[in-house]
Amino acid sequence: MADETQAAAHQEAHREAQAVQAADREPTFPRERTCPFAPPAEYARWQAEQPVAEVVLPSGQDAWLLTRHQDVRAMLDDPRFSADSAHPGFPRMYRQAVPQVLKGTFLRMDGADHLRYRRMLGKEFTAKGAKEMRPLVERTVDGLLDRMAEQGSPADLVTALAYPVPSTTICGVLGVPYEDRARFEDSTRVMISGRSTPEEVVRAKEEILGYLTGLVAAKEREPGDDLISRLLEEQVATGELDRDEVPVLAWLLLAAGHDTTASMIGLGALLLMEHADQLAALRSDPGLVAGAVEELLRHQTIMQIGMNRVALEDVRIGDRTVRAGEGVVAQLMAANRDPEVFADPDRFDITRSARGHVAFGYGPHQCLGQMLARVELQVTLARLFERFPKLRTVRPVAEIPFRHHMFGLYGVTELMVEW
Ligand code: HEM
Repeated sequence: MADETQAAAHQEAHREAQAVQAADREPTFPRERTCPFAPPAEYARWQAEQPVAEVVLPSGQDAWLLTRHQDVRAMLDDPRFSADSAHPGFPRMYRQAVPQVLKGTFLRMDGADHLRYRRMLGKEFTAKGAKEMRPLVERTVDGLLDRMAEQGSPADLVTALAYPVPSTTICGVLGVPYEDRARFEDSTRVMISGRSTPEEVVRAKEEILGYLTGLVAAKEREPGDDLISRLLEEQVATGELDRDEVPVLAWLLLAAGHDTTASMIGLGALLLMEHADQLAALRSDPGLVAGAVEELLRHQTIMQIGMNRVALEDVRIGDRTVRAGEGVVAQLMAANRDPEVFADPDRFDITRSARGHVAFGYGPHQCLGQMLARVELQVTLARLFERFPKLRTVRPVAEIPFRHHMFGLYGVTELMVEW
């Protein structure tokens, strides 16, 4: 027994020593941007010269970085790679030990466990379902634009439009009272900022889960016409789902469903204002809006770090062999600028076919809410420029605050506009 204790202590000391050593290594990924609208320049170089590159992550871990569209899609669709962050080789992006907030959600599950949730939720997030949501999105956007008009120019587009549209929509889908949005908006910000302390992250997650547990209990007593109530009636009542899983699912949908789309609305509006010719084309032919949104998603890929996976067995990618247990990062921004797939990839052109972009990921974990996100982006951007044809930014791009740190989602934190 004493030997075992000694061995465990020795192992622990060894692990700690390794961690200290690892944390001392200089990370080579992610890199900083030099242009606010373009990925860091090194990613294109890696793509051309070392498409399966060995990088050192901020955690000190080694990982493989994929930058080619073809490799990114193949890896994300390959069951030999796992999305389970509990695996020791899973790429960790933070230098310090940060609680894994997504652990226990289906985003971090594989195979049958993951499929079970996708089947349960898939029917709620179809193209048809998103189409049915369009009137709610239109009403929301029109109401917000009315308020902007009433309050007068200038306005901050991030707080006046970009956040309220997806927050109202996802609240509507789930049946979360919109007045309570600060609870999930604030907690999500703390959790994904990459700058919060572990204690802050744990507290934020506990708070939001506590709130949602109360809401689920209220819906058990008084169901409504919303996703949480349907989960309770159709899945919990039949034993398909544990009651305790509902707040976690609701949290994942709230978190994934608002900040992402809000970032894309702000960044999308700005990019259009910066490209007067593209905006003029969109305004003269509103039918271009669906294509414009795809091109915005391709050109401004907000998931700027990458999609992380760990190899479950040895896998050959290009001319390299990724060994079982090694971490892999799929760089979506780089893949969306791959010249093999998108001609002149840095050019922003709303008339091009951006089909095949990976802004929503690829494979089994491809974004569940993508149809809804598309509707929100199409309605918001079309109506914004229809309503305020002379909309322009108050400040030059150099003075607009971007979320510059390379963790979390990319976007603008404030976008002052006038009309
Ligand atoms: C422009 C907006 C959005 C972007 C760019 C985006 C992007 C992504 C990406 C890249 C993934 C893949 C993650 C991975 O492979 O590890 C993902 C997954 C996911 N997204 Fe989105 N998303 C957006 C909007 C939404 C919305 C509105 C919802 C609302 C329900 C949502 C819910 C989810 C969920 C639940 C997953 C996990 C899917 C799974 O693991 O099976 N997303 N999203």
